[in-house]
Amino acid sequence: SIYHATATAPVNIAVIKYWGKASTKLNTPTNSSLSVTLSQDDLRTITTASCSASFESDALWLNGAPHDVSGARSQACFAELRALRKAKEDKDSSLPPLSTYKLHLISENNFPTAAGLASSAAGFAAFVRAIADLYELDESPTELSRIARQGSGSACRSLFGGYVAWEKGDREDGQDSLAVQVAPMSHWPTMRAAILVISDAKKGVSSTTGMQATVATSTLFPNRANVVVPARMEAMKKAIAEKDFETFAELTMADSNSFHAVCLDTIPPIFYMNDTSRAAVRVVEEINRSAGKKVAAYTFDAGPNAVIYYEESNQQIVLGTLKKATVDVTGWSDGYAHINAAVPE
Ligand code: DP6
Repeated sequence: SIYHATATAPVNIAVIKYWGKASTKLNTPTNSSLSVTLSQDDLRTITTASCSASFESDALWLNGAPHDVSGARSQACFAELRALRKAKEDKDSSLPPLSTYKLHLISENNFPTAAGLASSAAGFAAFVRAIADLYELDESPTELSRIARQGSGSACRSLFGGYVAWEKGDREDGQDSLAVQVAPMSHWPTMRAAILVISDAKKGVSSTTGMQATVATSTLFPNRANVVVPARMEAMKKAIAEKDFETFAELTMADSNSFHAVCLDTIPPIFYMNDTSRAAVRVVEEINRSAGKKVAAYTFDAGPNAVIYYEESNQQIVLGTLKKATVDVTGWSDGYAHINAAVPE
């Protein structure tokens, strides 16, 4: 027989960025980070995990195409999940020996992988969640986040909805490097995110490669990781607890700029933002200036696309102005708007 389970995981967009590994082996970060998980309706990965005594090897299909799972990251996730299942089987001999079977994973994104959005976050989170469900594991999302982290750092934050911190941890073995929910989405239900797809070209420097180069060469980086971000993490948690959008926006924009500054300070320099990204920054600055307060916050990951956070009550002013400045609005749906800026690079 074939056993199977299906799970979804949403995309998360960091407002305090993860950039830098303390250990490449354990995939632990140099600093804690904090993100907002987007709505499942909009951006998510859905993964079906199946296993059977008749499967010959572990395999993964992503959006219909076979995907390599021989890499250390996928292997680490498989091994950890199988060990948890094995422990369960050892306790209860009536359970089928799923831990000994090969796994097949079928994974689909409801957004273009090429959009340069954090697809590895949702991808590895759904990967881990689906296998954990297949194995009927009792581990909490935080315990599973420790496993997802080894697949892709940002993935550990996608096991939760709402506002999520990835606490970097201090232990040598990485066991305390995991995600915790800071607040559920319902705590601040008026928060919205718009995604400005500025380019769907695949990013030049992968985040894994880029962050290692930054750690190795940037002289600005130690101050960011050890001084700036720890203070910002505390301030951001307070802003979220108090639903203080102005502080949330100031911290979000400052941290995005700090992250892109250490990228520029890397040798050779890494450029993720382009002219259109910078134009989006100026539009947001202008929206905030004319509102007389911060009503919108931009943030950019390892690519040119912008994510704009705002509160629902300011949707008209924020999206209206952005729309006027850009073209071709696509894919509106509940709560979140995806604006396709469609400006070639
Ligand atoms: C800029 O999680 O993709 O999006 O752990 O090497 O897989 P790996 O890196 P990844 O890096 C994400 C970097 C970022 C910031 C963030 O999401 O916090």
